[in-house]
Amino acid sequence: MSPRSATIPHGDAMPDLVALFGEAFPRGKGDVFMARAPGRVNLIGEHTDYNDGFVLPVAIDREVRVLGQRRPDDRVVVYSANFRRRVSFELDALGRSERQTWINYPQGVADALQRAGHHLPGMNLLLWGNIPPGGGMSSSAAVEIACMLVCEQLAGLRLEPREEALLAQRAENLFVGVQSGIMDQFISRLGRQGHALLIDCRSLEYEPVALELPGIVLGVVHSGVPRGLAGSAYNERRAECAAGVRLLRQYLPDIRALRDVRPEDFARLADLLPEPLRRRCRHVVTENARVGLAAAALRAGDIERLGVLFAASQDSMRDDYAVSRPEIDALVEIARAHGSLASRMTGGGFGGCTVNLVPEAAWEGFTRGVAADYPARTRRKPVIFRCRVVDGASLEQVA
Ligand code: GLA
Repeated sequence: MSPRSATIPHGDAMPDLVALFGEAFPRGKGDVFMARAPGRVNLIGEHTDYNDGFVLPVAIDREVRVLGQRRPDDRVVVYSANFRRRVSFELDALGRSERQTWINYPQGVADALQRAGHHLPGMNLLLWGNIPPGGGMSSSAAVEIACMLVCEQLAGLRLEPREEALLAQRAENLFVGVQSGIMDQFISRLGRQGHALLIDCRSLEYEPVALELPGIVLGVVHSGVPRGLAGSAYNERRAECAAGVRLLRQYLPDIRALRDVRPEDFARLADLLPEPLRRRCRHVVTENARVGLAAAALRAGDIERLGVLFAASQDSMRDDYAVSRPEIDALVEIARAHGSLASRMTGGGFGGCTVNLVPEAAWEGFTRGVAADYPARTRRKPVIFRCRVVDGASLEQVA
């Protein structure tokens, strides 16, 4: 394998989606709108969002596009430009599909909007994206957010961006069946170009933190490890955190979530928790503290400190939260050996991607080194993305 074949600098180019829409729906009538929603990379703060904690993600230049037009009936017809498949559903008979799982995202969004009391018209929808699915870059949140913006426009609704993120999360929780937190939908909707967002996942207040790291490239490496049982293991971790809170409340009656447990209190009480709850809770409490420290390091442009915090986060995900994998641990080690100054797994885990901060001058060597050493150690092929940090979702009329 040539080293270059592993690198995708700006990704699979977008086809002419307006033309494709016309071919997919030749008899469609009326205005056509197109929404764009980006994928994300979380710099730090993993598995903290559903513990009411803090996260520090960025929106990246890998995206989903959804084009939509009203129909005169109550049907939603969805064409996937990636799978070249067409599926339809009735708005008053939504049902989760076990075979065509991609259709659960637009169905879930329609379901969340209808449950919130909104009336939706029938729609022709076309979906396209270049975020690797199942890779930990939040392709599903991007589909949900892009569908949300199109549905809203076609239904004549105007929702507040945080409300949109919450409804998209509900689609994932209720319809897709993963009890995920708010991070992915939030950053896909509200991300800001050139900035990470420091999000308080309890209050949903957030603060943009400029990515002022001159000469540093944001590199994402896909491990090639499919995230397999990620959904069920994710829900299990979430339940373990809730169990930890119930036990800790005997000693700290005021806590509502692990976010409320200070690291010094946890250190004092840790021995009272059984394993594996002790390690699970320790990850969340320490990771949550690392997010604030990382935001401060980012503001100060202190890349060395970021490297230390990323390393602590990776160790904690491997040893305490048990969501890493040997391939990911190897990928982090190899990345560091080839010039990445900060490297850790990003996203839910059990496979997926690592996030890396790599000096521009070391980038070539980094891509070459990772492309050579990672397959030699794991027999898996990495895919390397050089990412730009972009704005959150937007919508325009295209026909
Ligand atoms: C997935 C979920 C997020 C978050 C991360 C872990 O991406 O969708 O809500 O919990 O895992 O940080």
